Amino acid sequence: MTVRVRVPATSANLGPGFDAFGLALTLYDELTVTPGGSGVTVEVVGPGEGEVALDESHLVVRAIRAGLESLGAAVPGFTLRCENRIPHGRGLGSSSAAIVGGLAAAYGLTGTPLDRDQVVSLAHQLEGHPDNVAASVLGGFTIAWTEGDAGRAVRLEPVEGLTAVAYVPQTRVLTKAARGLLPDVVPHGDAAANAGKSALLVAALTNRPDLLMTATEDRLHQEYREPAMPESLALVQKLRGSGLPAVISGAGPTVLVLGGPGGTSAASAPEPPDGWSRYDLGVDPVGVQVWSGAV
Ligand SMILES: Nc1ncnc2c1ncn2[C@@H]1O[C@H](COP(=O)(O)OP(=O)(O)OP(=O)(O)O)[C@@H](O)[C@H]1O
Ligand SMILES: [Mg+2]
Repeated sequence: MTVRVRVPATSANLGPGFDAFGLALTLYDELTVTPGGSGVTVEVVGPGEGEVALDESHLVVRAIRAGLESLGAAVPGFTLRCENRIPHGRGLGSSSAAIVGGLAAAYGLTGTPLDRDQVVSLAHQLEGHPDNVAASVLGGFTIAWTEGDAGRAVRLEPVEGLTAVAYVPQTRVLTKAARGLLPDVVPHGDAAANAGKSALLVAALTNRPDLLMTATEDRLHQEYREPAMPESLALVQKLRGSGLPAVISGAGPTVLVLGGPGGTSAASAPEPPDGWSRYDLGVDPVGVQVWSGAV
């Protein structure tokens, strides 16, 4: 029996929704897992090829093992083939996709129907924060939070026709480094502005895309991270200056421009700076998908 998994890239924060908001994107990693033997064989094509470990320490393998353990099952050996499209270390949720994909594969290997809330919870434990994993599991637009140690999330239906253009630079930014730039204390006015804007962004993403520009204003994290990604902040400012709702995707350095019907059109987004790649994406509606069957 072979298990196939398709898992989406995600963009977290979306401006003011720091550590809470996630959007699933139509850019996917695909996994094929075939049980057999006693150890693991890992093949990777695409992003991560020639870089990531090909043994038990591979992130997808670790997630498969953790998923199997949580389901009370053991599969001693398997072959894992990863066809990756999500760039690594750029703020598009590749680590969450690897974890969510591995957990979903464990459900497929054991013939267990996918329990999405449980996968959010397990993936949060492995990833350490719930925002990207929530969108990767549930699809659409998600709001994630923690209760004690548990990661939780709700999915909201994004407005039809919501699009995203991702501008991806060649450089990477370590999430840890980007986090280290955040202050311990912020002015009350900034916190209040962000609370209002994040609430407004829920309205904008679900039925008022005409409000995306004002609703994506952030005062809690993006500017503080400028030293780690000056070119990304400059691009956000340039795009916003021309009326496009641009934000830093996750911990950066990717820049995301949202677009929707009646709002600003992502299609009018300009070509990327030299050396950057541009991805024209939609919103993935369903989150991770898993199929099992004989080959
Ligand atoms: N598909 C994958 N297979 C194996 N390892 C992966 C995979 N995706 C990510 N990783 C590991 O995670 C690291 C990237 O994680 P990191 O959290 O820094 O970036 P990201 O998840 O792409 O972006 P962000 O978390 O900001 O959205 C890679 O360097 C690699 O070690
Ligand atoms: Mg990550």
